[in-house]
Amino acid sequence: MKILSKSNNELLLLAMKDDSASKGDYLLIEDGNRCIIVQVYDEEYLTSQSLFEDIVKEEVVNASSVENHHDPLNIGSLSRLVRDARIFRAKIRAAVNDGQLTSNVSWLPSRVESKIRRLTVKELDLLLGRNGVYPIPLGRAGDNEEFEIYAEDLDGKLTIITGKKESGKSHLSKLLVKTLVQHGAFVVVFDLNNEYGGIRWNRDGSPSSVHDRVLVLEPGKDLRFSLNYCGKEAVAAMLRNALDMPAASLREFFRIWDWLENKNSLDIAAMGNAINTWNINELVRDALVSRYHTIQSSRLFTDAGSGFRFENVTKSCAGAAMIINMGEVSGAARRMTVELVLSKIVNLLERKEIPPIFLFAEEAHLYIRETYWEDIITRMRHFGVYTTFITNQPDAINDGIYRQVDNIFLFNFTNDSDLDKISKVSLADSDTIRSIVRTLPQRNCLAIGKAVRDLPIVVRVSAVEVLTLGETKRFFKKKG
Ligand SMILES: Nc1ncnc2c1ncn2[C@@H]1O[C@H](COP(=O)(O)OP(=O)(O)O)[C@@H](O)[C@H]1O
Ligand SMILES: [Mg+2]
Repeated sequence: MKILSKSNNELLLLAMKDDSASKGDYLLIEDGNRCIIVQVYDEEYLTSQSLFEDIVKEEVVNASSVENHHDPLNIGSLSRLVRDARIFRAKIRAAVNDGQLTSNVSWLPSRVESKIRRLTVKELDLLLGRNGVYPIPLGRAGDNEEFEIYAEDLDGKLTIITGKKESGKSHLSKLLVKTLVQHGAFVVVFDLNNEYGGIRWNRDGSPSSVHDRVLVLEPGKDLRFSLNYCGKEAVAAMLRNALDMPAASLREFFRIWDWLENKNSLDIAAMGNAINTWNINELVRDALVSRYHTIQSSRLFTDAGSGFRFENVTKSCAGAAMIINMGEVSGAARRMTVELVLSKIVNLLERKEIPPIFLFAEEAHLYIRETYWEDIITRMRHFGVYTTFITNQPDAINDGIYRQVDNIFLFNFTNDSDLDKISKVSLADSDTIRSIVRTLPQRNCLAIGKAVRDLPIVVRVSAVEVLTLGETKRFFKKKG
């Protein structure tokens, strides 16, 4: 390979037939004792007018004559080589001076002297000083090398996994959840397809290594809270935000709550009685009664003294995943659940009763209200809720979140408007994103951000030894 030209932070490299590199590969350009690191993001033919004319001429000659051409100097094969030459477009990512990586590339490598070779992921990691204590093996990168990120790179961070449907987002996210639990972390998953429970089992049906540390919680069945445990604030927030309770009714609700609390009889049945007999305006009563029915039918609340407690889980396990199965739950109950879970977690974190929590939210725009987004990334992050959003609609996440994101795992997008969105907001340059992401095969993703020290890497996500649940039910089944 040879350097052809440079414009801004982009190099054009000339590659002959035997030179190989794929999109996303890193190359090291050595010039004496200095090096620069570039990343290939696109591949093209060498194009020039004279080359076109050559190709056309040869085709015409071939078509019109049958006898062999006399070519003692073997010019034909040379010209074929030229026609097969390719151009790699590469972005300059960093320079290495005396073994030190810098982003300041203020010199040009020689076109004649420079040697170009592929950089392995290991070498790259060494240069970047990318290491950690809690590895999360993701799959393979570069020349089929093992690739891992570190749990530390998700700790305290905001992560987004996005890509089109069926590209492998949930699979990667399950891999992250499982490994985090193995490392002793506590994870809460808002699961819309009831699929994360699969990490409890291996594909052959045997229990997986995290089997006993995964709790599958269905709102209204395994996930029920006592009113006392939730607290007035959390329940009020739920009424206001998930059930649109008007302010006047909310005030009455506070009064009823306080009265019941004073009588030491705060439970859901007593609340129902109080709402029916309380001396209030009929409109307010109607508002309260209709919310009360929604709450009752969600079965989210249970009697005082029983119910789910997060601190019980975090105290009794060395790492656990709490998977909230919301696939079969109504929209209102979903929003109520999310509201209660988030406010309770923040409340417990504030009082330092639980360690930081990793939150995985699939298609969060379907159940997290608009105003919560900011809360999650600023206030909640401050207290110790570290979120990963998984979505196939990059425009459902607003720009304020993208501005704060630390890691993005980007799967394939072919749709132009999605590509536009993601290339505008993401942490890498838009040429790289557009070109690489458009042609990413299924199960491959481009890792961007802190986890890869800001040098984007294409990863082939490995298959995991866990059961896959949550596949769409089909009417027409494939013959097995
Ligand atoms: N790296 C992988 N290795 C093996 N199977 C995978 C991999 N990634 C995804 N799959 C499978 O492909 C299908 C779609 O993946 P999924 O993660 O559910 O897609 P998405 O969440 O992006 O819609 C699933 O059946 C999943 O098990
Ligand atoms: Mg999915």
